[in-house]
Parts: sequence; C-alpha cells; structure tokens
Amino acid sequence: MNQRSRQLVVVHGVNLDLLGERPAQHYGTVTLAELEEIVAAECGRLGWECLCLQTNHEGVYVEFLHEHRHADALLVNPGAWTHYSYAIRDALEIVNCPVAEVHLSDIAAREDWRRHSVVSPVASFTVSGKGAAGYVEAVRRLVGLVESS
Ligand code: DQA
Repeated sequence: MNQRSRQLVVVHGVNLDLLGERPAQHYGTVTLAELEEIVAAECGRLGWECLCLQTNHEGVYVEFLHEHRHADALLVNPGAWTHYSYAIRDALEIVNCPVAEVHLSDIAAREDWRRHSVVSPVASFTVSGKGAAGYVEAVRRLVGLVESS
C-alpha cells in the first residue's frame, strides 16, 4: 500500500509578500515566490509535500493555523506579529505538530522591540538570521523530528 506523503504547512505573515523590496541588509534579495520554491524543492527532496500561505491579515493567519492544526509540521514566520501577537501565540499552542519559527534576519541583533518573540515559547525551535538557508535548515529539522518520532 502507498503511504501518503507527509505535509509541511508554511505560513508567512505580514509584509513578507514584499520580500525582494524590503531592506536587503536585513532580508536579502530573495522574493517570496523564490523562497517558496526553495522550501518546496527541499520538501520534495525529502519526500514531503508543502503548502504555503502568506497573508497581511492576522485573523486569516490564525484561521489558517486552526485549519492546519493537524498538519505533520508547521513552519511559521509571522513577521512583525512575532513580537506582539498573543492571538498567533495562542493558536500555535493548540497545534498538534512540531512548529519551526523562522526569521530571515537576526531578530536578536536588531532594535530592542524586535528582540522579544511571543511565539518562541510555543515553537519547537527557532532559526533566525540565516536568510533563505534558515528555511531549508528548518525544513530538515522538522522532517527529522517527525520522522524520528
Ligand atoms: C522577520 C523579522 C521581523 O521583526 C519583521 O517584522 C519581519 C520579518 C524576519 O523574517 O526577519 O517582517 O520576521
């Protein structure tokens, strides 16, 4: 019998639709479409499927997390919501799978208000400051966590 492919759900938050136009010193020059291709290619190499959403609406973000709370793994970059959205933090607490929190820039090395993430305590791990390579690292770590459990 064929086994169904496992699915990684990737949820990009506010302003990440404009990657490629945002300050390159923090976010590099990768566009969202390119980033999603990179993530999908890594998933494909590992035999996983990948579903991506980007939204600028916090309620849509929360509802998408609810909808996919039984995914095999979640990769989230909530953008600026990272630093203050208790609604997204609480939604992530409900999900039944490992969660990677990923940031392109190194949030610990930027403005004071960016140094605190309300999401980190409910994430399985955080990757920050590695650009698109951080997403690839997160995919590998999530797949490793799920496949070894
Ligand atoms: C970000 C970091 C956040 O502080 C910022 O608001 C973003 C992107 C990152 O990927 O580095 O929009 O999450």
